Amino acid sequence: MRTIVLFAMSLFPVLCASAADVDRRIDDLIARMTLQEKLGQMSQSTSLKTPLSDAMKAEIRAGRWGSFLNAGDAKDRAEAQRIATEETRLKIPLIFGRDVIHGYQTVFPIPLGQAATWDPDLVRQAAREAAREAAADRIAWTFAPMIDIARDPRWGRIAESLGEDPYLASQLGAAMVRGFQGDSLAAPDSLAACAKHYAGYGAVEGGRDYNSAWIPEILLRDVYLRPFQAARKAGVATFMTAFNTLNAVPATADPFLLRDILRGEWNYDGMVVSDYEAVTNLIAHGYALDAREAARKSIRAGVEMEMVSTSFYDHAPDLLRAGEITMKEIDDSVRDILRLKFRLGLFDRRPLPPAPDHSRALVIAEKAAEESVVLLRNDKNVLPLSKSVEKLAVIGPLADSPVDQMGTWSMDGRADFVRTPLAALREMLGADRVIYARGLINSRNHSRAGFDRAVRAARDADAVVLFLGEEAILSGEARSRAFLNLPGAQEALVDAIAATGKPIAAVILAGRPLTFHDAATKIPAILYSFHPGAMGGPAIARLLFGDASPSGKLPVTFPRTVGQVPIYYAHLNTGRPPLPSDLGVPMGNPANPQGYTSKYIDVDYTPEYPFGFGLSYANFQYSPAELSSNTLPPGGRLRITAQVANSGRRASDEVVQLYTSGPLGGSVARPVRELKGFRRVHLEPGASTKVEFTITTADLAYYNPKMQLVTEPGPYRAWIAPDSASGAAVSFEVTK
Ligand code: NOJ
Repeated sequence: MRTIVLFAMSLFPVLCASAADVDRRIDDLIARMTLQEKLGQMSQSTSLKTPLSDAMKAEIRAGRWGSFLNAGDAKDRAEAQRIATEETRLKIPLIFGRDVIHGYQTVFPIPLGQAATWDPDLVRQAAREAAREAAADRIAWTFAPMIDIARDPRWGRIAESLGEDPYLASQLGAAMVRGFQGDSLAAPDSLAACAKHYAGYGAVEGGRDYNSAWIPEILLRDVYLRPFQAARKAGVATFMTAFNTLNAVPATADPFLLRDILRGEWNYDGMVVSDYEAVTNLIAHGYALDAREAARKSIRAGVEMEMVSTSFYDHAPDLLRAGEITMKEIDDSVRDILRLKFRLGLFDRRPLPPAPDHSRALVIAEKAAEESVVLLRNDKNVLPLSKSVEKLAVIGPLADSPVDQMGTWSMDGRADFVRTPLAALREMLGADRVIYARGLINSRNHSRAGFDRAVRAARDADAVVLFLGEEAILSGEARSRAFLNLPGAQEALVDAIAATGKPIAAVILAGRPLTFHDAATKIPAILYSFHPGAMGGPAIARLLFGDASPSGKLPVTFPRTVGQVPIYYAHLNTGRPPLPSDLGVPMGNPANPQGYTSKYIDVDYTPEYPFGFGLSYANFQYSPAELSSNTLPPGGRLRITAQVANSGRRASDEVVQLYTSGPLGGSVARPVRELKGFRRVHLEPGASTKVEFTITTADLAYYNPKMQLVTEPGPYRAWIAPDSASGAAVSFEVTK
């Protein structure tokens, strides 16, 4: 009995230890640490190589490093941790961080695809599985969620984002934090999460990665910071600074972001890590003359751990001697780093979690893939296909490409877990009913050598499914694109297959919104699956053949052409909003003489597909929204309800969305609509349900020009709608 009790206590003493106990232990350690040991804690390295070298072992023994990222294997990590906790002077454990962005061994849809599920609990479950798998490999910290608002599909990192909307990204980002961190950070299968990249990285000019961001404070607070504040509220353990300058100050040395807002306004007591060499990047920014100045500016601003570059370690001693930084700044950083290690139970030899159950993770991966796929078009109900189809042609460079289907950031992803659409369709229909032709060797390929075979395959089949899009390496970090079209000769492949006259559906696997306006005129049915992860194949096969109905909704606006970017639904109205009569400008016509409104003369002002959009195999009807009152007093609540019915012949989930706008006549012009709530409901054919949302004046709050969060009185509007561009508005008044 005694042994069991002792064992249990040794596992989770941190759960029982009060915050005051931990603070005492931290103070005690800090009092005993040398400056070199403190700076070691503030240093994170990638150079833990397999096998662990003697030189690295000696560095760990000397307390040179507090953390490693993306380095070594589980065995190296175990040995490095053993040395840190047994052979260093103060036995301070290391913390191993890694980019576990959308799954570890089991890869879930890319974050942008997960955002298309609009299903926070599913997103939480995916993060939970990722944490279990990664923790079993001795990783304690993930650099996720990435909650940069992304409104520019040229930016390759839109793939890692949760889309364009602060409310959706807040809900899903917080769900990821809860999933990674579990109920307690000290549990063996929890990871510390990291809210990144703080802040403004999604607004890099021209969508060019690492570029400058200019964001007026009102937009920063109303849009870009909201998901970070939500992550903070969800208890995120760490923040990562962004690479970019924000309004001319590099985010990695910005006291306004790090001290005034994060610590001051949000009262954050977690830890702040820089991005990869972002501290010494201050030199290229022209913000620091040398590494010494870079260290000074970052430390003073509140960066606590330096990723990869070594300016803190190299220059802090001299900066201290010269009085340019203080020992309090160093101690505060070390305190936050040690507190994180305590919270994770690392000081108490955090045990390994049970071996992960990959089959459970794969079930969640399939559900997430299924919910993430967005049906963009389904003319004449081409989809779902009938299982009585005799021969199906499966064509395209992305039908059978496991690595591409996993998407960006899947360095630990198990390709052997991946089930491609081709494999799933062969299994579903029988291999002899599927004729496969790749058409192009990859998505960028310009050679038409494979077209003849692909056309023959289409001719020999009753129906065709084209798998188009982007390979994994075309999105993600440093993968900005100036063109958003289907790369390579894919449009020509579409032409060749469309000319056969066979019924065609396309599945587009991509890391960003692509523009495919012309191709879409030749393809009656389009499913957009983003990069769907390990179980994309079975999920797509089930959707194609109606075993499930598509239910994903776009987390980002799809432009008609790259020239419309940035285009997002929550824009201001302008003084000369375009009129419905301005619609229908032919693509490519430069000489349209219509009126002096805010539009283009060569393309419609509307997006190709609006935010929130997604069809299904059901037929959903929305009743007009009803309000519990026409007025909302300060501090009051308003109920908004609508009846949603499925008048179709198939069951499906529907994501019902609540938008508001207003007030008119306030101290600032306000967006035409803003998402304020959403609910995923399931409706059988003929069924209907009442969907109810409650809003308060706090939900409507926004920043005024004095940077005060206000809900001014005046007329507001609300919509309960299937997407951001439809539905009928109801009006109410916020009273004084
Ligand atoms: C740079 C990326 O910006 C960041 O997101 C990532 O976590 C780090 N590298 C570590 O790999």
